[in-house]
Amino acid sequence: MDKNTQVLMFSSKSGGWSTPQDFFDKLSWRFGPFDLDPCANPHNTKCLNFFTSAEDGLNKDWSGFSSFVNPPYGRGIDKWIEKGYTESRKENTRVVMLIPSRTDTKYWHKYVMKADEVYFIKGRLKFGDSDNSAPFPSAVVVFDGGTHQQIFGAMNR
Ligand SMILES: C[S@@+](CC[C@H](N)C(=O)[O-])C[C@H]1O[C@@H](n2cnc3c(N)ncnc32)[C@H](O)[C@@H]1O
Repeated sequence: MDKNTQVLMFSSKSGGWSTPQDFFDKLSWRFGPFDLDPCANPHNTKCLNFFTSAEDGLNKDWSGFSSFVNPPYGRGIDKWIEKGYTESRKENTRVVMLIPSRTDTKYWHKYVMKADEVYFIKGRLKFGDSDNSAPFPSAVVVFDGGTHQQIFGAMNR
Protein backbone atom coordinates (compact mmCIF):
# COMPACT_ATOMS: atom_id res chain seq x y z
CA MET A 1 0.00 0.00 0.00
CA ASP A 2 1.53 3.35 -0.98
CA LYS A 3 1.70 6.42 1.27
CA ASN A 4 -1.21 8.23 -0.39
CA THR A 5 -3.44 5.20 0.00
CA GLN A 6 -2.49 4.87 3.67
CA VAL A 7 -3.27 8.54 4.30
CA LEU A 8 -6.61 8.23 2.52
CA MET A 9 -7.48 4.99 4.24
CA PHE A 10 -6.81 6.18 7.75
CA SER A 11 -7.78 9.85 7.48
CA SER A 12 -10.98 10.92 9.20
CA LYS A 13 -11.92 12.55 5.92
CA SER A 14 -12.20 9.22 4.17
CA GLY A 15 -14.14 7.74 7.11
CA GLY A 16 -12.31 4.47 6.47
CA TRP A 17 -13.77 3.83 3.02
CA SER A 18 -17.31 4.72 4.01
CA THR A 19 -19.85 4.09 1.26
CA PRO A 20 -20.77 7.11 -0.88
CA GLN A 21 -24.37 7.95 0.02
CA ASP A 22 -25.56 8.17 -3.58
CA PHE A 23 -24.13 4.76 -4.33
CA PHE A 24 -25.70 3.31 -1.20
CA ASP A 25 -29.05 4.83 -2.26
CA LYS A 26 -28.73 3.11 -5.61
CA LEU A 27 -27.98 -0.25 -3.98
CA SER A 28 -30.79 0.27 -1.52
CA TRP A 29 -33.22 0.93 -4.34
CA ARG A 30 -32.05 -2.11 -6.25
CA PHE A 31 -31.40 -4.67 -3.50
CA GLY A 32 -32.86 -3.15 -0.33
CA PRO A 33 -34.34 -1.93 1.80
CA PHE A 34 -31.52 -2.80 4.17
CA ASP A 35 -32.20 -3.09 7.87
CA LEU A 36 -28.78 -3.96 9.31
CA ASP A 37 -25.29 -2.48 8.88
CA PRO A 38 -23.09 -5.00 10.75
CA CYS A 39 -19.87 -2.98 10.51
CA ALA A 40 -20.20 0.67 11.27
CA ASN A 41 -19.99 3.37 13.86
CA PRO A 42 -22.68 5.84 14.88
CA HIS A 43 -21.31 8.42 12.39
CA ASN A 44 -21.08 6.28 9.27
CA THR A 45 -23.81 3.68 9.67
CA LYS A 46 -26.12 3.28 6.71
CA CYS A 47 -28.93 1.70 8.76
CA LEU A 48 -30.69 2.40 12.04
CA ASN A 49 -29.60 -1.05 13.24
CA PHE A 50 -25.84 -1.44 13.29
CA PHE A 51 -22.93 -3.07 15.09
CA THR A 52 -19.74 -1.26 16.04
CA SER A 53 -16.26 -2.70 16.37
CA ALA A 54 -16.74 -2.77 20.15
CA GLU A 55 -19.85 -4.91 19.70
CA ASP A 56 -18.10 -6.93 16.97
CA GLY A 57 -20.54 -7.51 14.15
CA LEU A 58 -18.53 -10.52 13.04
CA ASN A 59 -19.72 -12.45 16.08
CA LYS A 60 -23.36 -11.37 15.94
CA ASP A 61 -26.32 -13.14 14.39
CA TRP A 62 -27.52 -11.44 11.20
CA SER A 63 -30.40 -13.83 10.61
CA GLY A 64 -33.70 -12.36 9.49
CA PHE A 65 -32.03 -9.16 8.30
CA SER A 66 -31.26 -7.71 4.93
CA SER A 67 -27.74 -6.50 5.62
CA PHE A 68 -25.61 -4.01 3.81
CA VAL A 69 -21.94 -4.72 4.49
CA ASN A 70 -19.00 -2.55 3.53
CA PRO A 71 -16.40 -4.29 5.70
CA PRO A 72 -13.04 -3.07 6.97
CA TYR A 73 -10.67 -3.49 4.02
CA GLY A 74 -7.56 -4.60 5.85
CA ARG A 75 -6.42 -8.03 6.91
CA GLY A 76 -9.41 -10.01 8.02
CA ILE A 77 -11.69 -8.99 5.17
CA ASP A 78 -11.86 -12.70 4.35
CA LYS A 79 -13.64 -13.30 7.68
CA TRP A 80 -16.31 -10.76 6.75
CA ILE A 81 -16.89 -12.36 3.38
CA GLU A 82 -17.07 -15.82 4.92
CA LYS A 83 -19.52 -14.42 7.49
CA GLY A 84 -21.66 -12.83 4.76
CA TYR A 85 -21.80 -16.11 2.89
CA THR A 86 -22.57 -18.14 6.04
CA GLU A 87 -25.25 -15.79 7.35
CA SER A 88 -26.98 -15.71 3.97
CA ARG A 89 -27.62 -19.44 4.29
CA LYS A 90 -29.98 -18.72 7.19
CA GLU A 91 -33.70 -18.31 6.58
CA ASN A 92 -34.93 -14.89 5.39
CA THR A 93 -31.39 -13.54 5.44
CA ARG A 94 -29.79 -11.60 2.66
CA VAL A 95 -26.36 -9.99 2.60
CA VAL A 96 -25.19 -7.41 0.08
CA MET A 97 -21.50 -6.55 0.28
CA LEU A 98 -19.42 -3.75 -1.20
CA ILE A 99 -15.86 -5.02 -1.39
CA PRO A 100 -12.64 -4.44 -3.28
CA SER A 101 -12.58 -6.52 -6.42
CA ARG A 102 -9.69 -8.79 -5.48
CA THR A 103 -10.43 -11.62 -7.83
CA ASP A 104 -7.13 -13.39 -7.22
CA THR A 105 -7.69 -14.09 -3.51
CA LYS A 106 -8.60 -17.40 -1.93
CA TYR A 107 -11.70 -15.94 -0.29
CA TRP A 108 -12.92 -14.61 -3.63
CA HIS A 109 -12.84 -18.07 -5.12
CA LYS A 110 -14.13 -19.82 -2.00
CA TYR A 111 -17.09 -17.51 -1.27
CA VAL A 112 -17.69 -14.78 -3.82
CA MET A 113 -17.81 -17.28 -6.65
CA LYS A 114 -20.77 -18.88 -4.82
CA ALA A 115 -22.70 -15.60 -4.59
CA ASP A 116 -26.08 -15.21 -6.23
CA GLU A 117 -25.05 -12.00 -7.95
CA VAL A 118 -21.72 -10.25 -8.51
CA TYR A 119 -21.44 -6.83 -10.15
CA PHE A 120 -18.14 -5.29 -11.17
CA ILE A 121 -18.28 -1.51 -10.81
CA LYS A 122 -17.22 0.51 -13.83
CA GLY A 123 -14.60 3.06 -12.82
CA ARG A 124 -13.60 3.74 -9.22
CA LEU A 125 -15.75 4.89 -6.31
CA LYS A 126 -14.97 7.99 -4.27
CA PHE A 127 -15.30 6.80 -0.68
CA GLY A 128 -16.22 8.98 2.26
CA ASP A 129 -15.73 12.67 1.62
CA SER A 130 -12.74 12.04 -0.59
CA ASP A 131 -12.28 14.03 -3.80
CA ASN A 132 -10.10 11.20 -5.10
CA SER A 133 -11.13 7.94 -6.62
CA ALA A 134 -10.18 4.78 -4.74
CA PRO A 135 -6.92 3.15 -5.80
CA PHE A 136 -8.73 -0.17 -6.28
CA PRO A 137 -11.77 -1.43 -8.19
CA SER A 138 -14.91 -2.46 -6.29
CA ALA A 139 -17.58 -5.10 -6.63
CA VAL A 140 -21.06 -5.59 -5.22
CA VAL A 141 -21.73 -9.13 -4.05
CA VAL A 142 -25.20 -10.40 -3.26
CA PHE A 143 -25.49 -13.47 -1.03
CA ASP A 144 -29.09 -14.55 -1.05
CA GLY A 145 -29.21 -18.16 0.02
CA GLY A 146 -27.72 -19.66 -3.09
CA THR A 147 -31.04 -20.68 -4.58
CA HIS A 148 -30.89 -18.47 -7.65
CA GLN A 149 -29.13 -18.87 -10.92
CA GLN A 150 -25.90 -16.91 -10.61
CA ILE A 151 -25.63 -13.52 -12.27
CA PHE A 152 -22.31 -11.83 -13.06
CA GLY A 153 -22.51 -8.34 -14.51
CA ALA A 154 -21.35 -4.77 -14.52
CA MET A 155 -22.71 -1.79 -12.63
CA ASN A 156 -22.27 1.94 -13.02
CA ARG A 157 -21.17 4.03 -10.06
C1 LIG B 1 -15.56 0.54 5.44
S1 LIG B 1 -16.28 1.19 6.94
C2 LIG B 1 -18.00 1.10 6.51
C3 LIG B 1 -18.83 2.10 7.25
C4 LIG B 1 -20.30 2.14 6.86
N1 LIG B 1 -20.96 0.92 7.23
C5 LIG B 1 -20.48 2.41 5.39
O1 LIG B 1 -20.91 1.53 4.66
O2 LIG B 1 -20.17 3.52 4.98
C6 LIG B 1 -16.09 -0.21 8.04
C7 LIG B 1 -16.58 0.07 9.45
O3 LIG B 1 -16.51 -1.14 10.20
C8 LIG B 1 -16.20 -0.84 11.53
N2 LIG B 1 -15.71 -2.07 12.14
C9 LIG B 1 -14.45 -2.56 12.18
N3 LIG B 1 -14.42 -3.76 12.80
C10 LIG B 1 -15.70 -4.02 13.16
C11 LIG B 1 -16.31 -5.12 13.86
N4 LIG B 1 -15.59 -6.17 14.28
N5 LIG B 1 -17.64 -5.07 14.06
C12 LIG B 1 -18.37 -4.01 13.64
N6 LIG B 1 -17.83 -2.94 12.99
C13 LIG B 1 -16.51 -2.97 12.75
C14 LIG B 1 -15.20 0.29 11.41
O4 LIG B 1 -15.16 1.03 12.60
C15 LIG B 1 -15.79 1.11 10.24
O5 LIG B 1 -16.67 2.08 10.74
